[in-house]
Amino acid sequence: MCGIVGYIGKKDAVQVLVDGLKKLEYRGYDSAGIAVYGGKNENKRNTCTGNNIVVVKCKGRLDSLQEKIKNSIIRGNMGIGHTRWATHGEPNDVNSHPHVSHSSKIAVVHNGIIENYTELKEFLESEGFEFVSDTDTEVIANLIEYFYKYYHKEEITNAVVNSLKLLEGTYALGIMCEDFPDRFIVARKGSPLVIGLGENENFAASDIPAILAHTRNTYILDDDEVALIKQDQVIVYDGFGNEVKKEVFKVDWDITATEKSGYEHFMIKEICEEPEALRNIINSRIKDGEIVAGDLSIIENEAARVNKIFIVACGTAYHAGLVGKQVIETLAKIPVEISIASEFRYQDPIISPGDLVIVISQSGETIYTLFALREAKRAGARVLSIVNTVGSSIARESDNVLYTLAEPEIAIASTKAYNNQLAALYIVALAFAMKRRTVNDRAALEIMEEIKRIPELVAEVLNHREEVQKFAARHYNSKSVFFIGRGLDYALSVEGSLKLKEISYIHSEAYAGGELKHGTIALIEEGTLVVACVTQNYLKDKIMSNIKEVKARGTLVLAVTQSRFTCEVSRTADIVITIPDMNQLLVPMVAITPLQLLAYYFAVQKGCDVDKPRNLAKSVTVE
Ligand code: M6R
Repeated sequence: MCGIVGYIGKKDAVQVLVDGLKKLEYRGYDSAGIAVYGGKNENKRNTCTGNNIVVVKCKGRLDSLQEKIKNSIIRGNMGIGHTRWATHGEPNDVNSHPHVSHSSKIAVVHNGIIENYTELKEFLESEGFEFVSDTDTEVIANLIEYFYKYYHKEEITNAVVNSLKLLEGTYALGIMCEDFPDRFIVARKGSPLVIGLGENENFAASDIPAILAHTRNTYILDDDEVALIKQDQVIVYDGFGNEVKKEVFKVDWDITATEKSGYEHFMIKEICEEPEALRNIINSRIKDGEIVAGDLSIIENEAARVNKIFIVACGTAYHAGLVGKQVIETLAKIPVEISIASEFRYQDPIISPGDLVIVISQSGETIYTLFALREAKRAGARVLSIVNTVGSSIARESDNVLYTLAEPEIAIASTKAYNNQLAALYIVALAFAMKRRTVNDRAALEIMEEIKRIPELVAEVLNHREEVQKFAARHYNSKSVFFIGRGLDYALSVEGSLKLKEISYIHSEAYAGGELKHGTIALIEEGTLVVACVTQNYLKDKIMSNIKEVKARGTLVLAVTQSRFTCEVSRTADIVITIPDMNQLLVPMVAITPLQLLAYYFAVQKGCDVDKPRNLAKSVTVE
């Protein structure tokens, strides 16, 4: 939700900021803007400005901003930038960031929400400050100016620190003051922020991809920290103004992970990366017939004592949790409760100190999941997180982290991260089962061997992706698509349905096969497309009956099934997509891939903006 960048050094700040914003567009893309210190504003047509800070911003994608920059005079070696996902005020030029204070002395970019902005605005208005936008961010710019003008004329950092004390809500902030050409300030509470350390230049950004082309040395800011960033120095303060000694976090990502590398979209690139991503996690955690969990004390030392597990997550990560619940209960025989993170803390969950909470998140920054984690810790539970982004808030606040090792995921629609979240959950389930002796050594070994085969099975599915593409070319005009399945296939259906609707905008619902006739079947009509998942032998006859029920009402049925059931399923379904034969408990890691491809090719056929679907942002950091 919104991306911010900052730069100070010798390079052209405009270029550095725009390049950084390109890497953050996945966080929001309804408007964008930059503020750069330096260069008189000789052309005021398209800019709003103080004497030394020039701001160019506008509604729309980065292309529109770049166009506007071309027609403006904006140059300098220090600046801040923003790409927006609107929360307060519609996306338009005025509401775009950066926001400048009343006298244009202070410029601010912000990711987060200020909950008490109305009160603060009223106060500032009573002090003579005028506002032009509908945003909460403009309040921050004016509040800093208020403190700066009246109390801290000499030092902008103190004005910032005092302003932050009054803010309720969440923020990652980039701040410039026209009296200080040698520094910008960043601050964080609840929204991610990383500082990039260069040679005679320094950077700040909401996420690592924005600075990866310049440096791999970073400081990851913690909540309540404020940093003063100069060309040759970065000083970090805690919430009380004490200097903090930060550890350098070295990023070891492959830079191509943030490039399309010849693929038309990040989404298809990331689907094609699934075998490799799965290999990363599986090979690092399963070695010589053992689960490697030395770094996970919850598994190593506490597995036998866990009474109950809660799984908490949002969106696709929650759908991975639906699979995880069934797998943990089947293998480790521990009762698992699963909750949507945004509901969790309001449900007053009954958590006891012996319970384990597993939170799942690709970004590691989803605010609901982070709050759920804190709630769980308050209640005395241990927290194991399954996270993709190294150094993210959720990873840092958990007792143990099992990294999914899927490398950065850029497309808004989560694909390879989901497969790896599943792999992580299978590993956890099996590790618990082995410690609790709910599966014997032989069975455990067989499951581990099967898990090791998963990357090649996914690769096999990808080799036949034209089948899905051809199907999409014929049926992408479907108005409504229903997904059905039972047991693990139901969990799979829910994720298949989300993928389709979020990127192709086709209405879609997922139902447990037996539940459809309790109401929703009324929506089924002649020609409706139904996608049926038929991978579980013990439920096959049941789901086949459900398929017959919808066929009897004139639907077109696409079935996803294991090779050994193809003959039988194709007698009823119209089209069958086959995945290789495998252990049915492990199927979701492989069977999700054709569903992701289906969503992708439908969206491509419809001409949708696959990587940046409307209204969405990759990381949801506001409540
Ligand atoms: O970063 P997280 O895994 O915590 O994100 C959770 C959801 O916001 C995310 O999975 C969302 O549902 C994706 N758009 C799904 O493709």
